[in-house]
Amino acid sequence: MSDNQGSAVAQAVGTMLDARGIKESFGTLTVLKGIDLAVGRGEVVVVMGPSGSGKSTFLRCLTFPEEPDAGTVRVGDITIKAGAAKNQNDRRELRRNAGMVFQHFNLFPHKTVIENVMEGPIAVRKMEKARARALAMDLLAKVGLADHADYYPSRLSGGQQQRVAIARALAMEPQVMLFNEPTSALDPELVGEVLAVMKNLAREGMTMVVVTHEIAFAQDVADRVMFMDGGVVVEEGTPGQLFTSAREERTRRFLGLINRQPQGTPGKPVF
Ligand SMILES: Nc1ncnc2c1ncn2[C@@H]1O[C@H](COP(=O)(O)OP(=O)(O)O)[C@@H](O)[C@H]1O
Ligand SMILES: [Mg+2]
Repeated sequence: MSDNQGSAVAQAVGTMLDARGIKESFGTLTVLKGIDLAVGRGEVVVVMGPSGSGKSTFLRCLTFPEEPDAGTVRVGDITIKAGAAKNQNDRRELRRNAGMVFQHFNLFPHKTVIENVMEGPIAVRKMEKARARALAMDLLAKVGLADHADYYPSRLSGGQQQRVAIARALAMEPQVMLFNEPTSALDPELVGEVLAVMKNLAREGMTMVVVTHEIAFAQDVADRVMFMDGGVVVEEGTPGQLFTSAREERTRRFLGLINRQPQGTPGKPVF
């Protein structure tokens, strides 16, 4: 199998997200040196790499809260090229097409769980309140929290709050979901419930890019794993390829390192 297998899959099923030549610098620090990523409809790509390798910056460049110095991003039917005349409408549409889930869930503390999920559909999609409530209830059921709809976030565990954050992102009915280390702020016993929700989403055919170091999740769910270091894609492949026979020394060293941490133990059941 070749490294091109992923992009071949992406082309065969229709590319949902296509990022080309993404470059970004902060002052004299070049963080992204030209990243390409094409994700097919229903594909799940896990992104791994050491701290500081540019994973978060790359995800931000995909939805343009951060404008890359160079490159083009397409999500669904919206394409934005870096440096092109600022088209705020396109930016809004692009962001609407991509649901983001962060390490810190940032729910509104003064709103109940269901109000948090209804907020986007009402404020951004101009959905009628009753419809937004029905949609939010469906999504809370999907993440296993229908019975917590009227709680305030402070009464929920971190794992439950992150599941609400996933429901909140889904309420915008995005074409792709981007996850930035969604379980790394959680106590170990709460990681599994969040990964289980993500796994179900993947099974339902959601297109996903997931920055995570959860090896067992990647093995189970990812179609492809992309390993970044120093602002470049060092290599990518299926989880089987990467975790057993990574080509590059840097990849092997990194995977060896994270395997020594308890949460990264290969084959450890997390569900
Ligand atoms: N807004 C910023 N201003 C200056 N430097 C930044 C900014 N955001 C990120 N960086 C730097 O870019 C590098 C990559 O960061 P990041 O994308 O967060 O990496 P990762 O998510 O892989 O840990 C780091 O050296 C970080 O300090
Ligand atoms: Mg990061």
